[in-house]
Amino acid sequence: MTARLDQRHSIERKMRFFLDIRGFLKLNAIKGNYLEFGSFRSWTQYAAFKVLEETKMMNAYVGLDAFIGEPPATPLEARHMPVMESGDFLCPYDEVSKFVKSSFKMRAQKVVTVSKDFQNIRRPLRSNVLV
Ligand SMILES: C[S@@+](CC[C@H](N)C(=O)[O-])C[C@H]1O[C@@H](n2cnc3c(N)ncnc32)[C@H](O)[C@@H]1O
Repeated sequence: MTARLDQRHSIERKMRFFLDIRGFLKLNAIKGNYLEFGSFRSWTQYAAFKVLEETKMMNAYVGLDAFIGEPPATPLEARHMPVMESGDFLCPYDEVSKFVKSSFKMRAQKVVTVSKDFQNIRRPLRSNVLV
């Protein structure tokens, strides 16, 4: 039985997490935005969209990433995340943008991909638009 329950793709674990979140959002009538700090290839952002959109409670699905790979870790980060190295998770913005455009299609207006170092974003999120 455990073999049957094992994940076959890393996204499966995240889908299960979003299913739990979906129940919580519905039960508590919580509306808002999905923000992913470090959205990498936007696969998880897309999984969130697929699971949460049905609730009609999400204004926007925002993915933030610098798209230049992991920045050098501070000593504190290196202590907590010793397996990650500077430059890991490098993925070109153009590739992600193509994936986002083709995957979200009709709902594209609800999806925002921000190519920035999120530590330098000082302006708050307004409604469904991030600057
Ligand atoms: C572990 S990956 C994220 C994986 C992704 N959330 C998923 O579920 O597939 C971490 C991401 O965070 C991004 N990142 C790390 N620090 C960042 C920063 N200060 N500003 C923007 N992006 C950053 C990296 O570029 C990388 O793509």
